[in-house]
Amino acid sequence: MKPLDLIKHAIKAQDNSESKYSNYPVGCALLSDDDKIIYGCNIESAVYPSTLCAERIAIYSALSQGFKKFKAIAIVSNTRARPCGSCRQIMYEYLGDIPIFISDSKGKDYLQHHIDELLPYPFDL
Ligand code: THU
Repeated sequence: MKPLDLIKHAIKAQDNSESKYSNYPVGCALLSDDDKIIYGCNIESAVYPSTLCAERIAIYSALSQGFKKFKAIAIVSNTRARPCGSCRQIMYEYLGDIPIFISDSKGKDYLQHHIDELLPYPFDL
């Protein structure tokens, strides 16, 4: 699958965002090694710390459905933001060394990263 196709899925996932407190919708699409696409979006709560990021929702959803290996991840936000520190740690622990595509909601001029650039000194037990 081409990066832009996965980004288009992340744009669709962004539409499902529940982000009325921040007005900052984020969408994520995770591509499994057997070419299934798992969506995630940020979901916010009136109890603010209960909010969860799009990336972790996608990863936790995929893992809980039995997906174990992944080929790529796409993340979409209105400002083409790179993932937060907590999501970087979870990406490091569960996704391995896969391309991380980061895009705005139009899908143009996307960035490509790998986890060792985003999280050079990860936490390991
Ligand atoms: N958010 C994400 O979904 N992913 C990130 O990597 C950073 C932030 C969400 C959380 C919250 O709903 C909104 O963006 C503003 O912080």
